[in-house]
Amino acid sequence: HEVYYYDSVSSTNDVAKELALQGARDGSLVVAEEQTGGKGRLGREWYSPKYKDIKFSLLLYPPVNPSEASQVTMVTAVAMALAVRKKTGVPAGIKWPNDLLVEGRKICGILTEMSAELDKINYLVVGAGLNVNQELADFPEEVRDIATSLKVEKGVELARVSLLQAILEEYEQWYMLWLEQGFSVILAKWKELSVSLHCPVRIHTLNKSWEGWAEDVDADGALLLRLPDGGLQRLIAGDVSLRV
Ligand code: BTN
Repeated sequence: HEVYYYDSVSSTNDVAKELALQGARDGSLVVAEEQTGGKGRLGREWYSPKYKDIKFSLLLYPPVNPSEASQVTMVTAVAMALAVRKKTGVPAGIKWPNDLLVEGRKICGILTEMSAELDKINYLVVGAGLNVNQELADFPEEVRDIATSLKVEKGVELARVSLLQAILEEYEQWYMLWLEQGFSVILAKWKELSVSLHCPVRIHTLNKSWEGWAEDVDADGALLLRLPDGGLQRLIAGDVSLRV
């Protein structure tokens, strides 16, 4: 696999998209020490300090329908959570749709972007930011109470290269498993690692807020929310708060 390593870029996702347009190969990896325009989900910014964390994007050409792209994000969450657990012992869990949390605090975010036609993915870029060696003071004030890093959790600094290596090895395993055996084995693992299922949640979507019981996640990665009136609401995007 090709590895593209940069000191500073606007966003590794954007670099990966440019590489896609230049015909870069499946599995190309973009890593950067600094992002000046790091992007989060739902149009938000992703701030992360230089040298302290891991941020990368993978360029993939998955042979599936655009409607199944969320499966790749879920593969990513599973691989990241397991790599973090195995390598550091920190009990990272998955919060729907694709955040990693440690005891309620966010340690990793994933942003998937794709270019697709009706029935074909042209390319897919999955980007992840994992908080590794930040101190709490390194986080912007708005997220200081809800973020954490591996260093905060463990009290020691971690070597980022061997951690990234472990992440990519885990990733390759789960991505291949997904390609060869389909989504059900991924979904089962995702559910096992989930910390936002079978509990009361509040969900903020663009223009509405929902409260209910997080009952299940379906084959498209949508959350099935049991409402107080007994109805079942299917949600494809949103922000979950667990402190209901
Ligand atoms: C989120 O939780 O909102 C998603 C955050 C995703 C951040 C990563 S860092 C590497 C890649 N490049 C970006 O600009 N964003 C993703």
